[in-house]
Amino acid sequence: MDIIPTGAILGAMVRGIDLAAPLAEADFGAILRGLARHGVLCFPGQDLTPAQQVAFSRRFGTLEVHVSGVFQEPGHPEVMILSNLTENGKPIGLADAGQDWHTDMSFSRTIAFVNVLHARRVPRRDGRALGATLFASMVAAFDTLPAATRERIERLTATHDFAKFWEMMRARHAGTTARQPLTEAQRASKPPVSHPMVLRHPLSGRRSLYADPGYTVRVDGIGAAESAALLEELFAHQLRPEFRYAHQWTEGDVLVWDNLQTLHTAVADYGPDEPRLIRRCQAMADFVFGPEARRLTAAPALEAAG
Ligand code: OGA
Ligand code: MN
Repeated sequence: MDIIPTGAILGAMVRGIDLAAPLAEADFGAILRGLARHGVLCFPGQDLTPAQQVAFSRRFGTLEVHVSGVFQEPGHPEVMILSNLTENGKPIGLADAGQDWHTDMSFSRTIAFVNVLHARRVPRRDGRALGATLFASMVAAFDTLPAATRERIERLTATHDFAKFWEMMRARHAGTTARQPLTEAQRASKPPVSHPMVLRHPLSGRRSLYADPGYTVRVDGIGAAESAALLEELFAHQLRPEFRYAHQWTEGDVLVWDNLQTLHTAVADYGPDEPRLIRRCQAMADFVFGPEARRLTAAPALEAAG
């Protein structure tokens, strides 16, 4: 297995491994190290069944079943279908997933570690792939904040709310979105939560800015106007072009990204006749903060010595 950095601010290609086969512990440790270092890993040329995707994804943490409860792979509720395809006039997947900057599950008490997306169909026009996924490095964003801001936000928490992104998408695509109004039960299952604004990565030790325009609604413990001004400043800073990386999809890609250190957005530049189909799993950040993840990523003795 080779991990080849893209040379950009984020990303590496992982070649020479078949994710359909059981994954050796040493390989998984190397994948975790690569992920902590590069933030986004692409495994090209994979062909996974939903069950194989679940088995691989589960290594990273407990799998989340999406709160919307729709567009699940039959027999595999942990696999969500992202697609603009329809069958008998009905959508087979969530067509507008992630179409603005966010990090996944920041609205959850237990936050997300990785997403594992497996591309089955990639939209194309004149041979060119569309529907890219863009990422932004929150390590780079944190590192380049003014020192006073870094110190300030290291002592602060912020509130995140699932409804912010959902309602924004409903408003933007009023009349066409498959997103229904959230029920009382769905809202109650995802109450707003607070998280530190700066995370120390459990595997790399690097700090990242943990606030995102998709879900972060309020800096806790300061005035409303001050909170709004601080969030506006951070949201503008964190999306500077030099922190960004674009993943152009190819059929067969398995893309794994680290939500503890990146934001992402889906580019909606394709039409209804340009099919996109991606299977998605979401692993939570329980395993990654535990001792087993640290043990697996400890450099082998030889490597340390040599
Ligand atoms: C997601 C997401 C982006 C995409 O799955 O969480 O934001 O490009 N997807 O499909
Ligand atoms: Mn997302």
